Amino acid sequence: SVLEMEVEQIKKGSYDHFMQKEIHEQPHSLTTTMRGRLKDGGVLLGGLKEHLKTIRRSRRVVFIGCGTSYNAALAARTFVEELTGIPVTMEVASDLLDRQGPIYREDTAVFVSQSGETADTLLALDYALENGALCVGITNTVGSTLSRRTHCGIHINAGCEIGVASTKAYTSQIVVMAMLALAIGSDQISTQPRREAIISGLSSLPGHASEVLKLDSEMKELASSLIDSESLLVFGRGYNYATALEGALKVKEVALMHSEGMFAGEMKHGPLALVDENLPIIVIATRDACFSKQQSVIQQLLSRKGRLIIMCSKGDASAVSPNGSCRVIEVPQVADCLQPVINIIPLQLLAYHLTVLRGFDVDQPRNLAKSVTTQ
Ligand code: G6P
Repeated sequence: SVLEMEVEQIKKGSYDHFMQKEIHEQPHSLTTTMRGRLKDGGVLLGGLKEHLKTIRRSRRVVFIGCGTSYNAALAARTFVEELTGIPVTMEVASDLLDRQGPIYREDTAVFVSQSGETADTLLALDYALENGALCVGITNTVGSTLSRRTHCGIHINAGCEIGVASTKAYTSQIVVMAMLALAIGSDQISTQPRREAIISGLSSLPGHASEVLKLDSEMKELASSLIDSESLLVFGRGYNYATALEGALKVKEVALMHSEGMFAGEMKHGPLALVDENLPIIVIATRDACFSKQQSVIQQLLSRKGRLIIMCSKGDASAVSPNGSCRVIEVPQVADCLQPVINIIPLQLLAYHLTVLRGFDVDQPRNLAKSVTTQ
């Protein structure tokens, strides 16, 4: 109806689409996710307090989710292992059920879902409950089935997300899992300085998100150069392997372009065969312990005449593209484990502009639903 259309326009404010609005909202949504939770150099997660001891004693943390929520958990895996010392395994909800994979009483199963209503995730939750695991929910929806059926949990507090492609929920999910890791690890003295650095990194994230959003017009220009490409590869590793998967997921789900996120370390074991002058390849090479390995991946791709777009830390353009032959996206550098929160934003912008330029529906991509409540 006309009224519904008008209400929708009011909700979008000055933006053309919800996805665009939600991408630009991230400095604010990240702030609300952390509000009241970073206190006196520590982390306060009310919903978990009673269960932290049990979680610390668990033999394993299992992350379970679908789509973007799975990717957010994957982005968190490395720092959860680092800060807690507990091994983390990853499960796509449907695959856990297909395999009837082992889940034990000594496991902490962490369910990640923006809506809290995804059927696959809820079925995996039933399965984990039956197997006696402690079940933790991370969701953006207060009162959702996931938040009601889990033993405890953390709300993302990113605000309502309407665009089918998840954007602000993704970055807030990573931040929530960073706070989860900090809370679990808070009894360890040896990692105290590292925890303090991450906490200060968290507080500066909204400012860095505002800064990286200034790349909007640059990403629009990049999108216009990719408009006719058939495919786009994204190579990441370490903390930013998940960024590669999530960037590629955004491009395929909204811009309807084939895109694959891959381990840069696997490049020589197959994907290298695809490289030529035409196939656009994004390489994520921001500063962290894997930087020099990414530099050599770039060299190998260039020697095969790869068409590279390199994401690097501000000031690193000449370090990643010595003769200036590659397109470079410079992003602000943050604490290494929080870099995925910043690095995904230019890729969200790219997917958004690519979709608009290709003339597709941004907020309602064909064949997809915001929340898949059937199996
Ligand atoms: C659907 C949506 C995705 C989303 C996934 C998981 O496939 O299209 O954008 O990432 O479900 O949704 P959830 O609400 O569980 O995070």
